[in-house]
Amino acid sequence: MAIKKIRIGEPESFVPSAFCKDFSYQEGEISFDLSSIETRITRQGTIVEFPIGQDEQVFGFGLQFYEINQKGKKIIIRSNADPIKNTGDSHAPVPFFVTNRNRGFYFDTARYAEFYCGYPKTSQRTGEGDSADSTQELYATRASVDSSVMSVPIPSAPGVDLFIIEGKNVTDVVSQYNMMSGGGCKMPDWGLGTLFRTHHDITEKDVLDLAHRFREKGFSINIIGLEPGWQTKHYPCSYIKNPGNFPHFDEMVAELVGMGYHINLWEQCFVHETAPFYEEIKPYSGSFPVWGGLVPDFSVPQARKIFADYQRKHFVDVGVDGFKTDECDGSDYSGGWSFPATAEFPSGADGEQMHNMLGELYCQTMLQALEGHETVSEVRNMGALAAPYPFVLYSDLYNHSSFITALVNSGFSGLLWSPEVRSTTSKKDLLRRLETVIFSPHCLINAWNCTEICPWYLWDCEDEARDLLKTRDSLQPMLRKAFDKYHDEGVPVIRALVMDWTDDPETWNIKDEYMFCENLLVAPLTAESDTRRVYLPAGKWKNYFTGEPVESGWHDVTMPAEIIPVYEKL
Ligand code: GAL
Repeated sequence: MAIKKIRIGEPESFVPSAFCKDFSYQEGEISFDLSSIETRITRQGTIVEFPIGQDEQVFGFGLQFYEINQKGKKIIIRSNADPIKNTGDSHAPVPFFVTNRNRGFYFDTARYAEFYCGYPKTSQRTGEGDSADSTQELYATRASVDSSVMSVPIPSAPGVDLFIIEGKNVTDVVSQYNMMSGGGCKMPDWGLGTLFRTHHDITEKDVLDLAHRFREKGFSINIIGLEPGWQTKHYPCSYIKNPGNFPHFDEMVAELVGMGYHINLWEQCFVHETAPFYEEIKPYSGSFPVWGGLVPDFSVPQARKIFADYQRKHFVDVGVDGFKTDECDGSDYSGGWSFPATAEFPSGADGEQMHNMLGELYCQTMLQALEGHETVSEVRNMGALAAPYPFVLYSDLYNHSSFITALVNSGFSGLLWSPEVRSTTSKKDLLRRLETVIFSPHCLINAWNCTEICPWYLWDCEDEARDLLKTRDSLQPMLRKAFDKYHDEGVPVIRALVMDWTDDPETWNIKDEYMFCENLLVAPLTAESDTRRVYLPAGKWKNYFTGEPVESGWHDVTMPAEIIPVYEKL
């Protein structure tokens, strides 16, 4: 177990570690051959290359939706709200990867770094000849030619600090990466419960009725989230309580808090001209407005203070203890609503750097507003060294299978992700999605756009939904322990199978099963089929719900709509 830092060129100052308050590590000797690393600083930026073995598999790069094993792929660490393919674009791109040789590589940069994960060193095509003689051969995927390199160009960077981490398996390497940033977040007990986000157009009367209805009907929901309609302007935000739908906002919050609820408010950091602190924050904002709103430079203490002081006085002090900090990612494929890479910020950061750091800087600002109050909040952009933030990622994309892959991938990079339940196309779709969300770090139901006040009224399955949320309650003691371990030792609550069984090649490409807490293996089903293949690595297993013993190895499993395949490792 060891970490080694290698400085290449002259690194920039606007990098993730500079904004990580508890960044620390102890340097030690590693077995990786440092002389095999080649570096160049060119007009294009910094280039780092080192060999990667034929059987060496590559995992990580943040919240990736499509693949877990990135060997042979080209990944660009670019913040983006619409990751439509396996390109690296992500709500939470992270310049950190691990391999099954039990080592990890963290590049401390906020740039759109590129990773060619097994790039042929020569122009050799396939190893089987030097020309492609059929269309099939021409388009074949060529991942693992032997003499391949990991090639990492970091465009426009004059240098970078590279941290190489070695451990006894992938979980151990990732845990050390998480500890570099101070360890996993402190998750309050109440954060392990269920968050219900209400409809965009809801009124305070509807919110209170719903809160009472949850109690009467035995729903253990304990956090209520308000979507954009609570304020007078949303895109960008005024941060002024909407007197139309919420004439007694503060009293409503007090009543909900009195009933045992925690309150979470939707917002973004794009400041509308009617926001009371608009003029004050203007000098500390970027050159390019978003939806006509200012983009505060949260790396500047003045901007942070103005924003945080307002949020504390108007929301935290009346009882709000969570926020959903929306749209702080980018928008390259959805109308370009965000600021461009050429935007300039008072700190000297450009738009590219700010895109990869905005989520974390925004979270820091909201933690300053919360001033030590416990929170579990949400955010749509995160980056490197993010483990200490009690902020959970979510998305506007909604494919159940890719939500499961994002969950599996989240554990490689110090991220928390909720495969939230939103709109549903059938009763089965709702139940299958609920099953995944109860076995995730953050049990989130988001009815902001639902045609009914609750998705279970749409499909007439209140009882089944309540039972699944009760299962969530029963998981809270094990989640408590797992979050404590995440905090103290950096061990992720959600782990791809390759993290714990690194040497087992069967695990290398499994993107739809994961370990949950200490010893549960979860293999979710989607509405598409009640049957799937499930792999149980070496060890003793039992069905978590029935207690029946199950052999390790591959199984064909069929489950009815209200049961998710879950196994306990003995
Ligand atoms: C989106 C967000 C949704 C919902 C919506 C409200 O950006 O991803 O969850 O909050 O805004 O307008």
